[in-house]
Amino acid sequence: MTNYIIRDYYDNDFSSLNELWEETGLGGSQRGDNAKIIAQSIKLGGKLILLENTKTKEIFGSSWMTFDGRRIHLHHIGVKPSYQNKGFGKILTKESLKFAKEKGCQIKLEVHQSNKKAIEIYKKLGFTFLGDYDVYIVRELDSIKF
Ligand SMILES: CC(C)(COP(=O)(O)OP(=O)(O)OC[C@H]1O[C@@H](n2cnc3c(N)ncnc32)[C@H](O)[C@@H]1OP(=O)(O)O)[C@@H](O)C(=O)NCCC(=O)NCCS
Repeated sequence: MTNYIIRDYYDNDFSSLNELWEETGLGGSQRGDNAKIIAQSIKLGGKLILLENTKTKEIFGSSWMTFDGRRIHLHHIGVKPSYQNKGFGKILTKESLKFAKEKGCQIKLEVHQSNKKAIEIYKKLGFTFLGDYDVYIVRELDSIKF
């Protein structure tokens, strides 16, 4: 059994967090997720929670909630592969939903349709499918056409 705590992210957690994101396929510089953006999102009312192994101090799970004044967006729920299938993904999702309840805001997420395991967790905990929307993004500001 893993002894763990759920705690808030601090600035000096970034490199461990980034390792977790790389390991779980959630990282990548194309997404623009860096320490500055995280700090900004927390200042704006978001929250980033971590799972930490109390014995080894390893950070093995994360959930990042950003707040835009209207809704909470759930990003980067990830559990390191060696800790997966032990209920931690569910624990992180429940904790994230608790934050939404406390704030009194709707909570939304994007998940790839092939990610059956994540979808199973979200549906079991109360998320419902919003419909056949496609998702668009401007990654490179130079690509804006005007
Ligand atoms: C998705 C992720 C966070 C889940 O974490 P986890 O700790 O392994 O998940 P849990 O152990 O809490 O829950 C697994 C649940 O999914 C179910 N499950 C496992 N594989 C499944 C599959 N292929 N299809 C459907 N359900 C599946 C399990 O039965 C379990 O449900 P149960 O507890 O009711 O039996 C983890 O796999 C991960 O980090 N993946 C990579 C990053 C990622 O894709 N994140 C989501 C981005 S939207």
